[in-house]
Amino acid sequence: MAEAWSGSKLVEKYLEFFKAKGHAIIPSASLIPENDPTVLFTAAGMHPLVPFLLGQPHPLGKRLANNQKCLRTDDIEQVGDASHHTFFFMLGNWSLGDYFKKEAIEMSWEFLTSPQWLGLEKNRLSVTVFAGDADASRDDYSAGVWASLGVPTERIYYNPKKDNWWGPAGSTGPCGPDTEMFYDTLKPKCGPNCKPGCGCGKYFEIWNDVFMEYGKTADGKYEKLKQQNVDTGMGLERTLAVLQGKDNDYETELFKPVMDGLRKMSKKQDATSQRIVADHLRSAVFVLGDDRAVTPSNVEQGYIVRRLIRRSIRHARLLGIEGKFCKTIAQSIVAIYGKEWPELERNKERVYAELEREEERFSSALEHGVKEFNSLVAQNNTVTGKDAFLLYQSFGFPLEMTIELAKERGLTVDKKVFEQEFERHRQLSREGAGQRFKSGLADQSEATVALHTATHLLHAALRKVLGLEVKQMGSNITPERLRFDFSWPQKVAPEQLKQAEKLVNDAIGRSLKVTREEMPLEQAKAGGALAFFGDKYSPEKVSVYTVGDFSKEVCAGPHVQTLEGMGRFKIQKEEAVAAGVRRIKAVLEK
Ligand code: ALA
Repeated sequence: MAEAWSGSKLVEKYLEFFKAKGHAIIPSASLIPENDPTVLFTAAGMHPLVPFLLGQPHPLGKRLANNQKCLRTDDIEQVGDASHHTFFFMLGNWSLGDYFKKEAIEMSWEFLTSPQWLGLEKNRLSVTVFAGDADASRDDYSAGVWASLGVPTERIYYNPKKDNWWGPAGSTGPCGPDTEMFYDTLKPKCGPNCKPGCGCGKYFEIWNDVFMEYGKTADGKYEKLKQQNVDTGMGLERTLAVLQGKDNDYETELFKPVMDGLRKMSKKQDATSQRIVADHLRSAVFVLGDDRAVTPSNVEQGYIVRRLIRRSIRHARLLGIEGKFCKTIAQSIVAIYGKEWPELERNKERVYAELEREEERFSSALEHGVKEFNSLVAQNNTVTGKDAFLLYQSFGFPLEMTIELAKERGLTVDKKVFEQEFERHRQLSREGAGQRFKSGLADQSEATVALHTATHLLHAALRKVLGLEVKQMGSNITPERLRFDFSWPQKVAPEQLKQAEKLVNDAIGRSLKVTREEMPLEQAKAGGALAFFGDKYSPEKVSVYTVGDFSKEVCAGPHVQTLEGMGRFKIQKEEAVAAGVRRIKAVLEK
């Protein structure tokens, strides 16, 4: 029985169950968020749904479910253990102001334990609930629902905010207390305090039901939202491992071929390093293989993917894997996932080429680092923690390499000083990021909504000035400015920018009305609506926003209702972001 479970079957069963409970199934959104600067990557299934959790009507109704590609770097230090990942699949169901705690918990329990669905053993499940604090009260209600289903009180644990509160995904937005479900692997306890969430690996956290009725504001307050929502997330990799009776995520068919490949290549067998390589390269393949092109670089998403690739290479070297190996591993990843995630098949050549280029760049960085290291030692006959940090910062030269080289010369490196420098730098860059990524569409302020509408106007204007080859490639909005990426092979001439700017301002001057309609995607396209991210929406029913006679786009909103009083549109900058992709930054001046 146990072997009959596969990743695809688990996804299928999950969606079938929630469909039977009245949920519309929506496609996975891109890993690169649209219009939202609060996070670099889609880190949870709720993330693309933020406008709807805040009250915007969703064209498919109040109950939704899907299988979402997610990427988080919060747990990167734990990757290598049995069940933590950077990239993972999250099965989720949502209530947008519809059902709340009771039904959400009852549905989770039925799906987990009913023999018709997962059929997990009831007596191996335990749960945690929110213990309450000054911002929100203790969740006795959820504990009561669990108890009514037969979970004994000694397997219901109360935890503070740090464990049982989820969100917001960025710095502001919807969030709330949650209840988490754990499955006992039957491993021995790690000590007298062993319990769900202790981190020893005995209890696998498989599902989280979040009761999103709060919104966190920019000044750190929690305010009640207009509606009570449910946001859940079940980890596909972990739940599959549990169903197949494996004690870690890397031995199911989602990872095994990759692990086998790595074991074959390794001169030294080390499960932790092999898992890190498998996890990080899977993340890199999904990021590089996303239709919204991201390439390794020193900023934003590109920096994260660069770090993931370089960390994989470093662990591969620890395993004794020499030379280029990323493409071979990436091919085995595409073979596992390419059928269900066709973007990987579509973009695989680009993925392989980017990986190989990054391998080359990293080996040249290492070479420079070694030279610099040698000259430091020749000058001072010592390597300080500060030197180690400078090598890291300037050449991407890993601390472990510095320590290793130092050791060969009978020297030691003060790791503490390195870490202090590292922390100091990290805090500085966090502050920078905080300033850059203040809010975005999650705040639905007048300023961001107007800039979102301005993005549609700009898109339409560029197509009028440059031609229909112009296609939106990305968008990112803060209350201060919009940023719009589009396909175009060369620099846009200043007079063309002026022309586009004028078209937008003429539309604003005419105080055009903005209307929203719902229709099937095909009908929207046939009616001339732009829909370049069709994969994000369900084809049966999409929202189309029309701005007078000027623009028509498939979009989740929100938008202003009229262009009246929107202000003066001004393009501030036009630049390249990648081959064939340009970026415009623009503002609305009052
Ligand atoms: N958004 C919740 C989580 O990621 C479900 O755990």
